[in-house]
Amino acid sequence: MSATPQLVTGRAELAATLAAPRRDGARVGLVPTMGALHEGHASLMTRARADVGDGPVVVSVFVNPMQFGPGEDLDRYPRTLDADLEVCADRGVDVVFAPPVEEVYPVWPPSVTVDPGPLADLLEGVTRPGHFAGVLTVVAKLLGLVRPDVAVFGQKDYQQLVLIRQLAADLCLGVEVVGAETVREPDGLALSSRNRYLDAEQRRHALALHRALRVAAEAAPSGLSAALDAARAEVRDAVGVDLDYLEITRPDLSPVPRDAPAGTEARALVAARVGTTRLIDNLPLVLGHTGGTA
Ligand code: PAF
Repeated sequence: MSATPQLVTGRAELAATLAAPRRDGARVGLVPTMGALHEGHASLMTRARADVGDGPVVVSVFVNPMQFGPGEDLDRYPRTLDADLEVCADRGVDVVFAPPVEEVYPVWPPSVTVDPGPLADLLEGVTRPGHFAGVLTVVAKLLGLVRPDVAVFGQKDYQQLVLIRQLAADLCLGVEVVGAETVREPDGLALSSRNRYLDAEQRRHALALHRALRVAAEAAPSGLSAALDAARAEVRDAVGVDLDYLEITRPDLSPVPRDAPAGTEARALVAARVGTTRLIDNLPLVLGHTGGTA
C-alpha cells in the first residue's frame, strides 16, 4: 500500500511544503496534468521519480480554462480527483497540487500572458487558435509556483512539448524539460484522457490514427510524398474518422526541406475527429529521399 500524497490547493501551502526539501538540496520534479490520470501520466511520474531520486515529485491537477476554446470540452472535461490521487499514490508521488481556478488566475482573464509565437499557428493551432497561449501561460505559472528542477511532459502532445521546450529556453526558466514516450494500448491506441469519451465502436475507429502513422513510418524510406499519400489514404478510407490533418515535419516542427538527405529524422502528426471527440497522435520516422514538401 503506497502512502497517500499530500493534497495541496494553495500557493502558500505549496511553497511551505517544498521549502524544506529544497533547503536540503533535493531536486524537485513536476508532472503537470489536467487530471483524469491514466497509465500514460503514471509513466511521467515514474520518469520524474527516476530523475529526482528521493526529492519530491509534484503532480499538478488543473483543468486550465485558458487553453479551451469556445465550443471545446472545458465543461465536460473529466474531473476525477479521488481516482487521480490513487494513481499518484501508486507511483509514489509526494505532492498533488490541485488548485482552484482563482489560485492560478487571481485575475480573470489574465492581463499578462505568454505569446507562443508562430509555431502555435500550425497543426493544432489552425483549428484551436489561442490554445497554446493558454497552455504556455499556465505552464509558466506552474513552473513559477513549483520551481522544479525537471518537468516531465508526454510526447503524445508533441506540438505542446516542442513549444514548452522553447518556452523554457527562450524565457531562461532554468528547468529541464523532459519528453516521455507515448504509452499505448496493446492495439496501438495512444492513451489519452479523452479516450473515455469513445464508445466501443468509436474506439475501434480511433485505431486508424495509429495505423496511419505506422503506414507513414513504413513508407518513409520511399520519401516524404509517398509517406504522406499512403498515410492520408489510410485515414480517409477509415470508417467513422474525420481527418483534420496528417503532416510530416522535422522534429522541431519546421518543414522538411526539399533537398533533405536520406536518413533525415522527421515526425508524422495526425489529428482527427471520431464522433465528437478530437484525437491526436504522432510518431517519429526516418525519411528516404524527400523529393520536396507536399
Ligand atoms: O498536457 C496537458 O495535460 C496540459 O496541456 C498541461 C500541460 C497540463 C497544461 O494545462
